[in-house]
Amino acid sequence: MTHNLEVFFRPKSIAVVGASKDSRKIGHAALKNILISDYECSLYPVNLKEKEILGLKCFKKVSDIPGKVDLVLISVPAPFVADVLRDCVKKKVKNTIIITSGFSEVGKNDMEEELKQIIDKADMNVLGPNVMGYKNASIGLDASFVYGNPKKGNVALISQSGALGIGMIYLANNEYMGVSKIIGVGNKLDLDDDDLIDYFAQDPDTKVIGLYIEGVKHGRDFMNSIYACNKPILVVKAGKSSAGARAASSHTGSMAGSDKIYEAAIKQAGGIRCRDVVELFDMAKALTGQPPARGNRIGIVTNGGGLGILLTDACEENGLTIPKLSPKTYKKIDKIIPDLVRPNNPVDIVADAGFFRYEAATSALLEDPNIDGVIVASVHGGYARPAEFTGAIIKMIRERKLHEEYKKPILATWVGGREYEDLVIDLKSAGVPIYPSSWRTARSMMALYQEGQRIKKEGKKEAEKKN
Ligand code: ACO
Repeated sequence: MTHNLEVFFRPKSIAVVGASKDSRKIGHAALKNILISDYECSLYPVNLKEKEILGLKCFKKVSDIPGKVDLVLISVPAPFVADVLRDCVKKKVKNTIIITSGFSEVGKNDMEEELKQIIDKADMNVLGPNVMGYKNASIGLDASFVYGNPKKGNVALISQSGALGIGMIYLANNEYMGVSKIIGVGNKLDLDDDDLIDYFAQDPDTKVIGLYIEGVKHGRDFMNSIYACNKPILVVKAGKSSAGARAASSHTGSMAGSDKIYEAAIKQAGGIRCRDVVELFDMAKALTGQPPARGNRIGIVTNGGGLGILLTDACEENGLTIPKLSPKTYKKIDKIIPDLVRPNNPVDIVADAGFFRYEAATSALLEDPNIDGVIVASVHGGYARPAEFTGAIIKMIRERKLHEEYKKPILATWVGGREYEDLVIDLKSAGVPIYPSSWRTARSMMALYQEGQRIKKEGKKEAEKKN
């Protein structure tokens, strides 16, 4: 086993065993995805009877290919995988991906045991079995058999479920979120979450790491990798209920384990637990675009009192506090809001609030040393133009780069219909973290606070190392 993944993710030569002329077959799709990737490499189809597939010369075995082969994708039925793997060992291939299903996920499995014995003796990284492969958006290489082109960005995704991984690509695109790499880990016979976390921790294209897991095989390694990683790690752990745990066992052969232990372990190691993949993207959006919150004191600006209360409750439920305004901030805000309301936190700037009130109230909160992060909320109150809110957000976050000035995060919440939705799309595409729910906004602010805490601990760890 070798876990240097540089060549695994940037192979110069790739073979696909089980490549086929039949466009309905997975081996055909895998070969085609690599072929049409915006990435230059030598590509070799391997098939027992064909001479050429998709215009590429075919080989009967990997060991027949002349020169070095950096990566092999295997898509032949399960009973033949061990022989193909042995041939890869013979060829001194260092990286393989076993797409094939039908191993431990369908029960105790001698074939998987046989693969394990080969891998244990080999100097080789093996992904799978039972995986989609990976898409390396940083360099434009698609080493998977599935559709879906992620937008290039800085979130690395590790998914134990192939289909959910693909869903995440489309979800990311919808949310205008860029991905650096997305990889399916399936049965994790060799390459495991901890190996990938270690790699992404060093990957210059990755800023945030997100995982969907059903079970962890080596708990201590998993925790150590999260602990050692100097980037935020978001974890969706499925199989919380007993029925969910049963489903995880038949999906990837995973033991879901005690959820309380996972919860505590992820937290202790410095990871952030997310309830589902939508929440993972909510948090990733905040973490990639905003500075972390140095404390948990949050200021809220809203044009609707009800929305302000919902945000307050959601923040408090997630370990954040909504402190009273300092006398200085009180005075600043008193000057900009109508006489019928008194300044408070949440700051109610009243339903007819326009651009100026939003900007002035948010600036007052950002300037306040007792506030660590700001949520700016708008409800389609009937007589305020939504564009005044979205315009103020764009101006504050992009043009004046307020978070750079104050090093405090700003998140946005909206409640409204179609007219709003169109404007929100503009904000999302500009990278503004904006959410259609008070709960989702509060959870994302909580992630920024946890990241702030992690960085503080990181600083302490560094200082301890120096002493
Ligand atoms: N060497 C070279 N070629 C071989 C070998 C071998 N040892 N054995 C078979 N082949 C060829 C076959 O002749 C065939 O080529 P052909 O179409 O020219 O005849 C090709 O390889 C594929 O073999 P088939 O027997 O046709 O197998 P098929 O493609 O139907 O299925 C597969 C193989 C896809 C690996 C299947 O067994 C399987 O596991 N499917 C599920 C995969 C999966 O879902 N993985 C999890 C992904 S995660 C997610 O959910 C997205």
